[in-house]
Amino acid sequence: MPERVFNFFAGPATLPYDVVKEAAKGVVNFENMGMSVMEISHRSAQFDRMFCEAQNNMLKIMGLSDDEYAVLFLGGGASTQFCALPFNFLKDSMTADYVVTGGWSKKAVKEAMFFGNVNIAASSEDSNFSFIPKEFNLTPGAAYVHTTSNNTLVGTQIKNFPETGDVPLVSDMSSDFLSRDLDFSKFSLIYAGAQKNIGPSGVAAVVVRRSWVDQARTEVPTMLSYKTHMSKNSLFNTPPSFPVYVVGLVMKWILAQGGIKAVEAANVKKAELLYSYMDDSNGFYTGTAEKDSRSLMNVTFRLPSEELEKKFIVEGAENDLFGLKGHRSVGGCRASIYNAMPHEGIEALIEFMKGFKAAN
Ligand SMILES: Cc1ncc(COP(=O)(O)O)c(C=O)c1O
Repeated sequence: MPERVFNFFAGPATLPYDVVKEAAKGVVNFENMGMSVMEISHRSAQFDRMFCEAQNNMLKIMGLSDDEYAVLFLGGGASTQFCALPFNFLKDSMTADYVVTGGWSKKAVKEAMFFGNVNIAASSEDSNFSFIPKEFNLTPGAAYVHTTSNNTLVGTQIKNFPETGDVPLVSDMSSDFLSRDLDFSKFSLIYAGAQKNIGPSGVAAVVVRRSWVDQARTEVPTMLSYKTHMSKNSLFNTPPSFPVYVVGLVMKWILAQGGIKAVEAANVKKAELLYSYMDDSNGFYTGTAEKDSRSLMNVTFRLPSEELEKKFIVEGAENDLFGLKGHRSVGGCRASIYNAMPHEGIEALIEFMKGFKAAN
């Protein structure tokens, strides 16, 4: 086995190799303290510096200011935010609008329904979520509008977010966070499990407009309350130390690439290369998402038969191309090509796809 293979898993997913190597050093001896980053107090000056730097660099990458937005690093994954969001903001008899574009959006809806009225502002479920709806039936005065920017399972991505006016716009960006340049100031709250684009599992980033948190409900269990975490700069309790440390390294890596615009440009190139090869394969590899909804992050496709798909996944792994199986709820194949997937990974995959097609 080579030291490094190409990892197309959907998450936990490939990280920049330089980050992995740097993280390995911090696991042994963090900042020359003679202790691992996993062993030091989260109240120490060294930890605090690292933590704040990660928060500040995230805001810098997003073009947001610390005065307006807070960055929270929370446990419980993105899934906990499905419930924390309505707990904090879906008050009394209000309605929250949800744009339903895949299995993760449905899970978010399920949680919101425990707290108040939910309006499905748009859904592509009737078409197996193969596209992103363009029309949204928004509720005037809604508590918020919830979107899922990238649909990890079905390989679609929102290009145009709903225009919500004064209604707070929220997005679960778990699978495309910091992969493209968006006007992040349009959003009142963004959340993302780290384990796709920004780090290991065990932490979710929540970037939230401070003035919105001021309006949140107060009668919320302490650990689910955004007010708790914002008021303590996300250090109310012991944070997921090691995951945050790695997120901080990934933030530095993004800045070293030239920032989010440069990362986006590389992502567009990689995705275009892969999709255009698939489109030219005479129907051997068929993309499952409609073209104008295709994700730059999760490329989902089918082969002519399920037998061939199984063989493709096995032989891919034999060629050091891992994780090409589609999600169990969807089937088929999927190549997840997040920020950290090198261009050579796409080239190697296409070479393998060509050879597989010729042989089958
Ligand atoms: C879009 C999206 N939202 C939410 C989740 C759930 O994240 P977690 O496992 O961190 O709870 C995932 C996980 O794959 C996801 O892809």
